Amino acid sequence: MSKEIKSVEYGLEKIFEGAEDFLPLLGTDYIEFYVGNAKQAAHYYKTAFGFQSFAYRGLETGSKDTVSYVLKQDKIRLVLTSPLNSKSPINDHIVKHGDGVKVIALWVEDARAAYEETTKRGAKSFMEPTVDKDDHGEVVRSGIYTYGETVHMFVERKNYNGKFLPGFKEWNSDYNPAPTGFKFVDHMVGNVGWGEMNTWVKWYEDVMGFVNFLSFDDKQITTEYSALMSKVMCNGNGRIKFPINEPAKGVKKSQIEEYLDFYEGPGVQHIAVATDDIIKTVADLRSRGVEFLPPPPQAYYDDIPRRLGDHMKIMKEDIKELQKLSILVDADEEGYLLQIFTKPVQDRPTLFFEIIQRMGAKGFGAGNFKALFESIEREQAQRGTL
Ligand code: FE2
Repeated sequence: MSKEIKSVEYGLEKIFEGAEDFLPLLGTDYIEFYVGNAKQAAHYYKTAFGFQSFAYRGLETGSKDTVSYVLKQDKIRLVLTSPLNSKSPINDHIVKHGDGVKVIALWVEDARAAYEETTKRGAKSFMEPTVDKDDHGEVVRSGIYTYGETVHMFVERKNYNGKFLPGFKEWNSDYNPAPTGFKFVDHMVGNVGWGEMNTWVKWYEDVMGFVNFLSFDDKQITTEYSALMSKVMCNGNGRIKFPINEPAKGVKKSQIEEYLDFYEGPGVQHIAVATDDIIKTVADLRSRGVEFLPPPPQAYYDDIPRRLGDHMKIMKEDIKELQKLSILVDADEEGYLLQIFTKPVQDRPTLFFEIIQRMGAKGFGAGNFKALFESIEREQAQRGTL
């Protein structure tokens, strides 16, 4: 990482000192996927990733056009939604993009104010503030478009004590595979088109009040074949981090370009989930059939003590164990981090997951980018899309 990145990263608190956060975000509320078959997708996320049955809305609850399964693991809530007939506009989304993330919902104190502040600053409306009620109270939601057809929904639930949202019933299942140690969403990454990264960086700054606290250019993220550029956007309290990638010119096709081709536009590239024990989590996920990117070469693991330097003294994990599971390691001034990336979780090479354990480090694994991208390129070569 360059000097500039470090000073910006560690000056985050200073950036916000005295500044008014016009869009206070309490956390990620839920992530909604539009999928072709929500029932089967729910089974996959329970079986493979250890999500728990949480809430349901469908024909049985009076929802005639769509069905949604809500899954939970610690603080993470996934909503899997499918259309129930050909008239639903969700069909168009699925035809164009395949299964993917439609909504990144953000938990707010005041969904009306969030809508007003962001649309005033230029956001395109997805849903005007809407109140849903049931016996447990009311939830106010509003939504704006971000990149592509992706949406940020603002969720105000301070007057609600139901399970999830009005209209959903509790989902009790007889099939309950154990959790795998996912704790919360660490960050969510968006891929945008050629030359669009700075447009969206500015959008997050102007419309959402975020700051750009880390940047990687195509000289830092490059391999023999392809390159990308990335900027990490972060909200006022640091809880929400959205890195934004754009492809960069290389000898062959960038993985970002491959994503854009198959998703047919910008969208969410990966969801990074935090765990306290990545060795246990990854061993568990592997035993459940989750596929990860192939391991970097031996030399990568041989080089870890040099790359970690002093952090080796605090490192509890055995490098051999990490290598056995293909877990990657990176470090910055404040500590180290462990991470691994799944293969895409649908047939189109689009969305995937990252599992991350932070041991003080605040970065995103820049030191791993080269090894990681070479691994992705081997996969791309097999798909014939490099
Ligand atoms: Fe990531």
